Amino acid sequence: MHNFRKITENLYNIGANDRRITMFENAHPVPRGMSYNSYLLLDEKTVLLDGVDNAIIEQFWQNLTAVLDGRQLDYLVINHLEPDHCHPIPELLRRYPGLTIVANKKAFTMLDQFYEVELEGRMLEVKEGDQLQTGKHNLTFYFAPMVHWPEVMVTYDSTSKILFSADAFGTFGATDGKMFADQYKFEEEYLPEVRRYYASIIGKYGRNVNNLFDKIADLDIKMFCTLHGPIWRQDLHLILDKYRQWASYIPEERGVVIAYGTVYGNTALAAEILANKLADGGVENIRVYDVTSTHPSYILSDCFRFDRIVFASATFNAEIFPYMETLLLELKAHNLSNRTVAVVENGSWALSSGKKMREILDQMKDITVLEQTLSIKSSLKGPDVEALEELAKALLAA
Ligand code: FEO
Repeated sequence: MHNFRKITENLYNIGANDRRITMFENAHPVPRGMSYNSYLLLDEKTVLLDGVDNAIIEQFWQNLTAVLDGRQLDYLVINHLEPDHCHPIPELLRRYPGLTIVANKKAFTMLDQFYEVELEGRMLEVKEGDQLQTGKHNLTFYFAPMVHWPEVMVTYDSTSKILFSADAFGTFGATDGKMFADQYKFEEEYLPEVRRYYASIIGKYGRNVNNLFDKIADLDIKMFCTLHGPIWRQDLHLILDKYRQWASYIPEERGVVIAYGTVYGNTALAAEILANKLADGGVENIRVYDVTSTHPSYILSDCFRFDRIVFASATFNAEIFPYMETLLLELKAHNLSNRTVAVVENGSWALSSGKKMREILDQMKDITVLEQTLSIKSSLKGPDVEALEELAKALLAA
């Protein structure tokens, strides 16, 4: 049975939700599932803009067949050649002999890498700014390399004033019936997961996101049709403002993330005492995380949100506690910058986690490491509480 959604007079979303998935890209937890959007435009020509993941392929075929209602498929526009959007391509080529694939050179190269398809006479390679008239609609292609892969482009329909934005403006989580972002409470229902999605998927590529914004700045855009999550049709500035901050690594608000890696609870106690002192000092936004029990994507997301971070780690085999090292490398890999951080270390016989954490932090851009620190020998003692007090003061003043 089909289950498509009509967006405008002749534009449909023929994608679907996958609520069985637990880890998107086998890397990011998605406790509320994942949605994959695929857009079908019925003009004088029929145009599919991106496909879907294997997980929802049967629903995709049902939807495609129903919306086409006997028509042939003329074009497939590939904005992003990642397999979560490309699974149906070989079968689309088989089912629709008149189908032409519209993509850029990089996407065609990757298409050949991922799939065994015969494309002779079925390729329309586009360059930056090229246009495709499909009848009443005029599509223009703007390249958006590294938002999220190098072949990514976005497609602007100047007739409907819609930007098909590939992964940009997407989010983790299946949609709950509601197709548009304005149907969700932005702060509570939408923002936490769109932030975590941005940080995890696109966070590394802030400069590229800003480059894309420069390119589309003069376009009259009424709608963002993303490949994941609800469509934006009003108050576009809400998501654009967030993207501009994230892309420039500017904290959204003041607040302190305290991430600790503990073996027997002594490092955890230091983190808890520090959190108390910060709260007593008037800090409203404090997030304390045990790195062992919290997936790094959640901590990464809060590190994109807040301006100060404390890393408190036990020494483990003379190294950083493993989950803490993973977190630090994740933050570095996602280019987190422009933050003030503090380091707390603990060790019983080879106190070295602080030095090793600083080595990673020194490789990151515009990270200010506070001089105030705390070195715990196994468990907190009287003088350590004074050091925690100084650390809290420095964090409050930062
Ligand atoms: Fe939704 Fe980068 O793929």
